[in-house]
Amino acid sequence: MSSSLVTVAYIGATILFILSLGGLSNPETSRRGNLLGIVGMTVAVLATVLGPRVTLAGGPWIITAMLIGASIGLYAARTVKMTQMPELVALMHSLVGLAACLVGFASYIDTSVEFTGAEKSIHEVEIYVGILIGAVTFSGSIIAFGKLAGKIGGRPLLLPARHWLNLLALLVVIWFGHAFLQAPDIAAGMMPLTVMTVIALLFGIHMVMAIGGADMPVVVSMLNSYSGWAAAATGFMLANDLLIVTGALVGSSGAILSYIMCRAMNRNFISVIAGGFGTGEGAAPAAAGAQPAGEVTPISAVETAELLRSAKNVVIVPGYGMAVAQAQHTVYEITRLLRERAVNVRFAIHPVAGRMPGHMNVLLAEAKVPYDIVLEMDEINDDFPDTDVAMVIGANDIVNPAAEDDPASPIAGMPVLQVWKAKTSIVMKRSMASGYAGVDNPLFYKENNRMLFGDAKKMLDEVLAALRG
Ligand code: TAP
Repeated sequence: MSSSLVTVAYIGATILFILSLGGLSNPETSRRGNLLGIVGMTVAVLATVLGPRVTLAGGPWIITAMLIGASIGLYAARTVKMTQMPELVALMHSLVGLAACLVGFASYIDTSVEFTGAEKSIHEVEIYVGILIGAVTFSGSIIAFGKLAGKIGGRPLLLPARHWLNLLALLVVIWFGHAFLQAPDIAAGMMPLTVMTVIALLFGIHMVMAIGGADMPVVVSMLNSYSGWAAAATGFMLANDLLIVTGALVGSSGAILSYIMCRAMNRNFISVIAGGFGTGEGAAPAAAGAQPAGEVTPISAVETAELLRSAKNVVIVPGYGMAVAQAQHTVYEITRLLRERAVNVRFAIHPVAGRMPGHMNVLLAEAKVPYDIVLEMDEINDDFPDTDVAMVIGANDIVNPAAEDDPASPIAGMPVLQVWKAKTSIVMKRSMASGYAGVDNPLFYKENNRMLFGDAKKMLDEVLAALRG
């Protein structure tokens, strides 16, 4: 394939990626957006592999690598549970970071292309910055993976003088960057490059370890953004325009998502990144599973069905537990039945419900819940006083009144769905355990709240049976 044909293919792929992002911004067009992204990526990969920069000798290597990568990807996509999706995404981000590091080192020791003068300096800056971003993305994403998978505790690790440590790391990186650019040959440049890589890896670990459980959504979207910049940096090192544009698209959309997440959680981006935000000036958040004192009022599935049947307005608040139980299809059946009986059923989606942006929207769309009854928090929060039954399915942190009432709470200031303002709220969960942020929830003890204990799918099946009966 000639280089001008490759350029045309790259422009086509870029347009497809932009259209894809546009489509993904709305549930109704998201499938089409996804499809456009797939087509764009296929065009991009084919144009690169068939392009003039790949020699015949490299063919078998590339095909073998693609076969291995595609098999792992297919296997992961088929076997990963919906609830493990955020961990998978974090792992994939780490791979983008690792790729940037490897490409950086490879293009530094590659002597087949000679750079001289200003070109040499520019290339070396690209390598240095590319490896820096890649290493932070790699180690940060691995720690995020650990936190999301529950392998590392959600409590922020706050080292003493951590801001000074970060500043020192930055100064050392700049200093070694200078040494790297001055290095007379590759052997001499390897030392500063390696030191910087180690510092960047440690910084990535430190940055994510310092972030509290409740702020993890921002970390997920931030690492998404970093992976984009790492890909763009790889594009610069390889002089591949498409990779630069695609990386910039991912980087900037991730940055916008981080901003949206921060706004949704009423957090300041810089404070989140600085770490330890919202931990009540060092006060440790309650341990996961802590049980505060108080009386809760349990309710049975049959009683829940009766309440729903006699209600005029019902708001359903799905959370992470609905994803765990895979209860979305039963939720849809209940919704359909109630709507047939002229009950006004709507869904309230908190921006950080579940474990990844849009988690609940994806599940509800999969169950074919109509988009027009799925509302964002801002659209529905004022309607709770006119709601007869607010049904909380496996959600916890996003309906915690402590966020509004208790300034010492780790989630203080985060906007929450005010389900307690409904005539009756029903919380479905298996136990009194706390949610992701490890914070107790006073909602459970409110007078107008009922607890429907059990697995969400099982309990909803019982509610559905009672409604049908
Ligand atoms: P959580 O606060 O994590 O609460 C989920 C609740 O579901 C748990 O209390 C759990 O209680 C219950 N549950 C688990 N499995 C269940 C099952 N099979 N059946 C019924 N209930 C079940 O979830 P949320 O309210 O959706 O809030 C999301 C949290 O995750 C926030 O703190 C948010 O900051 C964080 N987070 C979000 C994201 C994004 S981007 N959305 C990313 C990372 C972290 P039991 O164990 O008692 O059943």
